[in-house]
Amino acid sequence: MLIRKPDDIKSSEITDKKRYLNRRRFIQAAGLGAAGIGSGLLLPAMFGNMDEAHAAKKLEGFTKGKFGTDEPQTPLKDITSYNNFYEFGTDKGDPKRHSGSLKTRPWTVEVEGEVNKPRTFDIEELLKMPLEERVYRLRCVEAWSMVIPWIGFELSHLIKAVEPTNNAKYIQFVTLFDPEQMPGQRRGILDWPYVEGLRMDEAMNPLTIMGVGLYGEVMPNQNGAPIRLVVPWKYGFKSAKSIVKIRFVEEEPPTAWNMAAPQEYGFYSNVNPTVNHPRWSQASERRIGDFFRRKTLMFNGYEEQVAHLYKGMDLKKLY
Ligand code: MTE
Repeated sequence: MLIRKPDDIKSSEITDKKRYLNRRRFIQAAGLGAAGIGSGLLLPAMFGNMDEAHAAKKLEGFTKGKFGTDEPQTPLKDITSYNNFYEFGTDKGDPKRHSGSLKTRPWTVEVEGEVNKPRTFDIEELLKMPLEERVYRLRCVEAWSMVIPWIGFELSHLIKAVEPTNNAKYIQFVTLFDPEQMPGQRRGILDWPYVEGLRMDEAMNPLTIMGVGLYGEVMPNQNGAPIRLVVPWKYGFKSAKSIVKIRFVEEEPPTAWNMAAPQEYGFYSNVNPTVNHPRWSQASERRIGDFFRRKTLMFNGYEEQVAHLYKGMDLKKLY
């Protein structure tokens, strides 16, 4: 997602000042990538000698959930060593190498905004929600994909517990900001903390889960421990990792990649093989571990469950 050459960007694309400034930062960061940071050459010096992500722990008490795919699952080794988690660096291997510094206890998720019952959940309470294993496809906007046996609970359970008001039209997800633990945040690649958002009906859809584990184990740090969003019909970047706050709001909230490059990443970001990224096709993808590319499916194959959410919307404009 990151590698943008300055000459990729036309001044006519630039809209307002905030976006212009973000664009400048983005270009500078991309420039640093060319100098070797993205390739990992300078990272050991920047990040110090951190331990590898913590040892796996079994998760108990989950059931086999619905909506799963029976396609072959991507091996655990690939799911945990080929990641996007820019808080720990921009190379696919960086999150595994550097996320050992993330402390996942104590951890709370604050819920605020347009709700009748705002409250702060301790992670241990959230682990008592009805946990299910959901084997979902994850399609990254960079045109690779995986099949991941997540463990999580439906976001709708949490939403119902806080009783949204009639003004709650969207939900914003705010992730951890702590440059001590997340050294990638010392670089202005994105406007930290990483934020994401969903429309209320998307958040309430039974496919949308809060992930707390995978392959029967507690969520590995590099995959967004201790709690992350999983929205399988949208590009992977909608699935924000290491969430600390959930805010119910009236207006469409700002999102990290849309702020960084609005002409490339929209709010909806539904997997859609008929709408190309401005710089590459989205018609096909490479399943990690496969040799041949495969066709990308509308809504990542979840059309039956979610197409109704977008009836009447022009998905070429609202990408
Ligand atoms: N969440 C945070 N906080 N920071 C990130 O950089 N990257 C996103 C998403 N969530 C990201 C994030 C992107 S681009 C993808 S493809 C998925 O996480 C990758 O999830 P995975 O590493 O578990 O496969």
